[in-house]
Amino acid sequence: MQAYRKRITGSSKRWRRSSLELTHLVTIDGPTGCGKSTVAHLLAKSLRYHYLDTGAMYRAVALAIWRAGIELEDEGKIAKICNGLDIKFIHEGDSARIYLGDEDVTEAIREPTIDLTASTVSAIDRVRKVVTRLQRKIGSQGPLVAEGRDMGTVVFPEAQHKFYLDASLEVRVDRRFLERQKKGDSVSREKVKEDLIKRDHQDMTRRLSPLRPAKDAKMIDTTKLTPDQVVETIMRGMKAYS
Ligand code: DC
Repeated sequence: MQAYRKRITGSSKRWRRSSLELTHLVTIDGPTGCGKSTVAHLLAKSLRYHYLDTGAMYRAVALAIWRAGIELEDEGKIAKICNGLDIKFIHEGDSARIYLGDEDVTEAIREPTIDLTASTVSAIDRVRKVVTRLQRKIGSQGPLVAEGRDMGTVVFPEAQHKFYLDASLEVRVDRRFLERQKKGDSVSREKVKEDLIKRDHQDMTRRLSPLRPAKDAKMIDTTKLTPDQVVETIMRGMKAYS
């Protein structure tokens, strides 16, 4: 989709797209465990759009910083890492692998140690600038379902189809706990809950691009819904607009 128009002006950095392409961009935001990754993936498959997991990008940056042993307060070294970052997605059938340079880090970024580090790293100005730029570049390349924390508010504020998913705390903890158990992790449910609350707090209260629904996002409570039901709800919401 090369008809996307990108214009970056001075410090305000406005980003423009043609109205036609706005309909090919779906944003899904929400907290950990709200089901957005599963839903975004299924939705992208149904619509035949690409799926962009923006959390994976922050996780990749966190992995690079963590491996380099850089203190999270050391903004100079973090800026240096960010300048040399080479993050890319390689699509394989329905799914996408994420690469840091030549290394496939798809599994490594899912290590529990990266959960909180990614949240902390994502609050750093330089990191957000670099990752946001990359996300917009990917957004300019074709129809997309973009999933994350600030897709509808900051990265693609002009998207026509914006959704914000949420679910009760207990259900979100259950989902995350089950996910960890499936991976053979012997973590307790209490610890999962504690980490999730901490991460939500960091993501929602940071100064830059905090997690919050865009004013024009449609809210979906996924507590009692299956992923397929959420996808149906989103598709209905999209039709109402087209
Ligand atoms: O969705 P996730 O758990 O993979 O995301 C990891 C962290 O990345 C999350 O705690 C906050 C950050 N993040 C962000 O700040 N903005 C996004 N658009 C996506 C993720």
